[in-house]
Amino acid sequence: MAAIDRFEFLFKEITTVFTSIKDTFAIVGVLYTSRKALCVTARVICTIHTHAFSKLSSGRELRKKFGPWAVVTGSSEGIGQAYAKELAKRGLNIVLVSKGKQRLHRAAKEIEEEYHVQTCAVLVDFCSEREVYDKIWEAIEDKEIGILVNNVGVMYDYPDFFLEVPVERLWQIINVNVAAATIMTHMILPQMVKRGRGAVVMVSTGTCTQITPQMTIYAASKSFLDYFAKALQYEYKDKGIIVQSLRPLYVATRMTEYSKTLSSTSMWIPSASLYAKHAVTTLGYSSRTTGYWPHGLLSWVVEMIPEWLWMWGSGRLNSAFRRQASDRVRRKSLVLSRSQDSFDTLQDSVE
Ligand SMILES: NC(=O)c1ccc[n+]([C@@H]2O[C@H](COP(=O)([O-])OP(=O)(O)OC[C@H]3O[C@@H](n4cnc5c(N)ncnc54)[C@H](OP(=O)(O)O)[C@@H]3O)[C@@H](O)[C@H]2O)c1
Repeated sequence: MAAIDRFEFLFKEITTVFTSIKDTFAIVGVLYTSRKALCVTARVICTIHTHAFSKLSSGRELRKKFGPWAVVTGSSEGIGQAYAKELAKRGLNIVLVSKGKQRLHRAAKEIEEEYHVQTCAVLVDFCSEREVYDKIWEAIEDKEIGILVNNVGVMYDYPDFFLEVPVERLWQIINVNVAAATIMTHMILPQMVKRGRGAVVMVSTGTCTQITPQMTIYAASKSFLDYFAKALQYEYKDKGIIVQSLRPLYVATRMTEYSKTLSSTSMWIPSASLYAKHAVTTLGYSSRTTGYWPHGLLSWVVEMIPEWLWMWGSGRLNSAFRRQASDRVRRKSLVLSRSQDSFDTLQDSVE
């Protein structure tokens, strides 16, 4: 009898402990689920605000809000040129800064003719000496710059392992991706602060959302811009300055030409002009965005993937892109050698 009593007592004790453990787990579960639900709701609201509400405004107010001139680095091609055109469409005069003489002047002429705004083309190579910044300063010192777009950027020829990237390209990445944005901002921000208005856009990349092998130094340089933008926004938001970190995923431009897949436009890989059309409207609506809603969705998915799985998957994807790049190079050299053969045959027949 006493043994049964003791067993009942023990059973009661154990069930009480289990019930309290169950209750504790239930509370933790409810808290965790509520936190997740809140995060998802906040993200959805933020996405709608950035990508839908922003479209309701015409964007015409950019000139009034920030000032009459915009400086766009790397604007002779790709995203930079398309972004400059979107700003010109909104009435801003454009200072284009790039290194290819013909492309730069062609872009400036197109902008003037299409949008009837003023342009100023500054030919510089950000890989050369520090004097290039004196040249830029001379061109802009008398202009009221409202928007600075730190767009200029270089990547490897195709994704590759760190030691396979030529040291020359590593210096280019440091000088163009990191130094140019830093010095351009240091040069232009004071006049914005003095006037109490202005916007700085740093073109980073979605590649730095997670650690991406075979993009090591490129992604690291773009993470620098992302960090720079966040910290700068914090330091100068009270002075009327807006700083935005723009983090596109793949956009079909010269930079992605190494891959057949990445050169074909689709909903997920927009052309530079489609991308810029979306990205410009997010200025003033979000301080950190992909700038294009399908990229926003992809980024969300990427963030949820565990780091080890992402590294494995993106590593394999980049190896596939590298193979596509070497196929392209092989095909190009084949075409070149064939045309050389036909040229030789032609020369022989002429002789
Ligand atoms: N395309 C993408 O998938 C993608 C994705 C995420 C982020 N991004 C970023 O977006 C930005 C623009 O990329 P994009 O795809 O438009 O590239 P792009 O088509 O290669 O254009 C790069 C622009 O930068 C200029 N530039 C390059 N090196 C320069 C130098 N040393 N000095 C002065 N100008 C120089 C080029 O001028 P020239 O034509 O005269 O050489 C060109 O106007 C970059 O910062 C890139 O990292 C691109």
